[in-house]
Amino acid sequence: ISEYSYVVVGSGLLGAVIAERIANQLDQPVLVIEKRDHIGGNCYSATDPTTGIEYHKYGTHIFHTSNEKVWNYVRRFITFNTYQHRVLSCYKNRLYPFPINLATINQFYNRNLKPYEVEDFMASLRQSQLGQRADGGRRDAQPAAGPPTAGAPTNFEEQAMSLLGRDLYEAFFKYYTIKQWQVDPRHLPPAIFNRLPFRTNYDDNYFFDRWQGIPEKGYTHLFERLLANRKIKVLLDTDFFEIRHLLKKDACLVYSGAIDRFFDYKHGKLSWRTLRFEQEIIDKADYQGNSVINFPEAEIPYTRIHEPRHLHPEKEYTGNKTIIFREYSLADQGDNPYYPIASEDNQRLLSLYRKEAAQLKNVFISGRLGDYKYYDMHQTIDRALEIFETCILPQTSTIHVV
Ligand code: FDA
Repeated sequence: ISEYSYVVVGSGLLGAVIAERIANQLDQPVLVIEKRDHIGGNCYSATDPTTGIEYHKYGTHIFHTSNEKVWNYVRRFITFNTYQHRVLSCYKNRLYPFPINLATINQFYNRNLKPYEVEDFMASLRQSQLGQRADGGRRDAQPAAGPPTAGAPTNFEEQAMSLLGRDLYEAFFKYYTIKQWQVDPRHLPPAIFNRLPFRTNYDDNYFFDRWQGIPEKGYTHLFERLLANRKIKVLLDTDFFEIRHLLKKDACLVYSGAIDRFFDYKHGKLSWRTLRFEQEIIDKADYQGNSVINFPEAEIPYTRIHEPRHLHPEKEYTGNKTIIFREYSLADQGDNPYYPIASEDNQRLLSLYRKEAAQLKNVFISGRLGDYKYYDMHQTIDRALEIFETCILPQTSTIHVV
């Protein structure tokens, strides 16, 4: 580490893209330090030895973007298959297309509505349910966190009910959200619901983006290609904090680990929601017929089942076994962080850490852990290119000119 003028902590997308740029564009040696025993961060993929199926260890990853710069950049290293993400939701043992679209509504209410009839139908549902509480007025139910549903929605439940009405909300969102966040939806902000699209046509594609797909040879291949330059050295199984004291003075440091850890948690710990995946090999060629199925009911403890064989329609998996992953959501488990939690306490801590980070020279803290922000992969790549172009590249040209 003491020999390197460029050090990158983390071999996830943020670190790998910046290391690639430093080696290929600046033609400089760069050291990538990774505490896990593999490259790729949370995008890591591998081939299951029993079934031969390519799977994503930290949850299903579908690449999708409308950002042309990112799309062109990433395709310099790999090719994508033609996979399009479509999700089903299993309610009362029946499968519905999800996110909610015209097929979902027609199937749920046993109708044959036309697109132009949906708005009126939904409005009449909402009207008939106005004032009804989502908990059906049960005695054990807690009082609503905000005012009743009339007026601007003040929480997740009110927001969802104002768009979908009670039946669809309870079937597909209420208990799913409780399982996911371990919080009453009335205590979540309305904005969380806004992220979920609702359609009045039969479009069941999960994403609206211009391009999507899965790397044909898996995500790990993308990372092998990004880190292929001989000027890049990757140190696996190495925690940066154990060798930090050896870092060359004035080295350019890109750090994609947790921002609170970087400052020794001096202001306190940021909290995270995490996931647990339970793996099972099934003696069937195809278990559920789709890559992801949601389970929104309270009685089923997991939120989703992933079956990765369906992510690669171009591959001919000939075996008669398949691999599945049941996904469980867990409340804060700081040692395996997945999703930042948007609470006021966390925002306050984050701004204290950001202030400290802004004082540092030649240190760039970013990525999902460093920015304490959920980024899709295309956003992470965009952020990495931006850091390289606006922070690292200008500094280097100055040094070269001097
Ligand atoms: P990432 O966590 O990948 O990498 C950081 C690396 O730094 C890790 O390898 C870590 O081990 C290492 N590190 C941390 N501290 C260290 C230390 N002290 N010393 C050495 N190394 C250290 N996006 C999308 O576009 N489509 C999708 O379908 C999904 N799906 C999805 C599912 C789930 C469950 C999650 C949680 C996320 C997604 N994503 C996604 C988002 C995607 O995972 C995300 O954009 C990238 O992983 C972010 O890359 P980073 O490099 O920022 O972090």
